[in-house]
Amino acid sequence: MNQAAEAAIHCRGLCHEVQGRVILDRIDLCTDAARVGVVGRNGSGKSTLARILAGLVRPSAGQVRIHGIDIARDRRAALQTVGLLFQNPEHQIIFPRVDEEIAFGLRQQGLSRDEAGRRASAMLDWFGNAHWSDAPVTELSQGQKHLVCMMAVLAMRPRLLILDEPFAGLDIPTRLQLARYLDRASVGLLHISHDPADLAGCDRVFWLDRGRIVADGPPAPLLARFTEEMQRLGGLDDISDLAG
Ligand SMILES: Nc1ncnc2c1ncn2[C@@H]1O[C@H](COP(=O)(O)OP(=O)(O)OP(=O)(O)O)[C@@H](O)[C@H]1O
Ligand SMILES: [Mg+2]
Repeated sequence: MNQAAEAAIHCRGLCHEVQGRVILDRIDLCTDAARVGVVGRNGSGKSTLARILAGLVRPSAGQVRIHGIDIARDRRAALQTVGLLFQNPEHQIIFPRVDEEIAFGLRQQGLSRDEAGRRASAMLDWFGNAHWSDAPVTELSQGQKHLVCMMAVLAMRPRLLILDEPFAGLDIPTRLQLARYLDRASVGLLHISHDPADLAGCDRVFWLDRGRIVADGPPAPLLARFTEEMQRLGGLDDISDLAG
């Protein structure tokens, strides 16, 4: 990881309600660390937080600044600053061909068709997948679709990349390869997961529970506490809270 990369997230008093239900409750998350983790159970609000930080959802209240950009107000600057790798690549991919998918975000950033095409080809080359250029996305495996999403997001050269559990369902070699590609990219990372093993290499981890940050700090002690608590909850019979 390039040491100059920073997440530079300044999020204060963030609240989000949907139809009167509180999903995120007074989130304060401020950090300049290069690799930030967010851990939390199913339904704790991780993906909602990811969408808000990426500017895709406007919060009910509070402020989000990333590298000084007011993400909710300045959509164009947000597109240049933050990238989001979704939990499910099917929610991200819009186009039938790989090269079109990678070029799309670049066109949104204002690049000409030719320049976007050139940048998309360069990204495919960098990942050693030039032969995928006109491949139909539907013919790729799930792991390959994840890689297409990663290329599309990295091509936009964000300063902060938010990973919303992009490694779920991938085999070990594919996870390790994707992690290595990310290490090579000069980008701040916010990695969201409910699997502590994914976050051990982070500089700082935030624990989200029922829409609130309940703890934050260096990964080793925090993830140990989180794992202990998850195991304690797993020993109980009541799973009613999963129904939300
Ligand atoms: N658009 C929406 N409308 C209504 N409720 C929503 C909406 N989006 C999320 N929620 C609710 O907000 C809560 C948090 O959802 P979110 O997807 O952010 O959780 P998560 O931590 O990402 O969970 P998981 O680990 O299962 O991905 C859930 O109870 C969910 O039902
Ligand atoms: Mg989620």
